[in-house]
Amino acid sequence: MNYLDALNWRYSVKKFDGKKIPSEKLNNILEAGRLSVSSQGLQPYHLLVVENEATIQKLVPAFYNPSQIKTCSHLIVLVSKTNINKAYVDNYFSHIINERGVTLEQLSAFRKNINVLLETLTPKEMESWAEKQSYIVLGSLIMAAALEQIDSCPMEGFKADLLEEFLDVDKKSEKITVVLALGYRAADDPFQDFKKVRKPADKFIKFL
Ligand SMILES: Cc1cc2nc3c(=O)[nH]c(=O)nc-3n(C[C@H](O)[C@H](O)[C@H](O)COP(=O)(O)O)c2cc1C
Repeated sequence: MNYLDALNWRYSVKKFDGKKIPSEKLNNILEAGRLSVSSQGLQPYHLLVVENEATIQKLVPAFYNPSQIKTCSHLIVLVSKTNINKAYVDNYFSHIINERGVTLEQLSAFRKNINVLLETLTPKEMESWAEKQSYIVLGSLIMAAALEQIDSCPMEGFKADLLEEFLDVDKKSEKITVVLALGYRAADDPFQDFKKVRKPADKFIKFL
């Protein structure tokens, strides 16, 4: 499907039909998330993919309007880091060295840049910076799902403490930023018939 058609086809589903999505499509969507860009390539996040039906239902009380959660096929939970410590950056550099066959010396300017970035950010700014990176992943996941003709609904409407407790998220070093429910739209979800509301291009884009 053409990507603009896919973006017009998708909408934020309020009720899925309960059917499970094929694992090949799920894996393609997750791979699109893995390939997302991130600032300095640090990927300060990871995904939890909830596919077990009983586990999904257990999460329902953590959502304010859980109709999507009750009926979805899978839930992708985006977890971002709340602090980036030296060990994390060291591990990132070891990974680059292994993947690209370069030396630490060759990466010294890059490493310095990252140190400066991390040293300048307050803890709150670092948390917010990492959260922003996870929203880029969310965009990739939504786009990929639409191209795979899989429906989705991004969700921030959850009780973070409860959801983090249910999913055993280590609150000392990470937080849940956003959730993406996946599945197939239910035939009686009225939202599929609503016209898309977006700013007109001239209010959204200014060419200079
Ligand atoms: C970060 C984010 C969080 C959202 N949270 C919710 C949510 O908790 N519940 C919900 O029903 N829709 C949620 N939405 C969906 C938006 O309301 C929806 O994308 C917007 O109204 C545009 O409609 P459309 O996606 O159907 O085109 C969220 C969207 C984004 C991007």
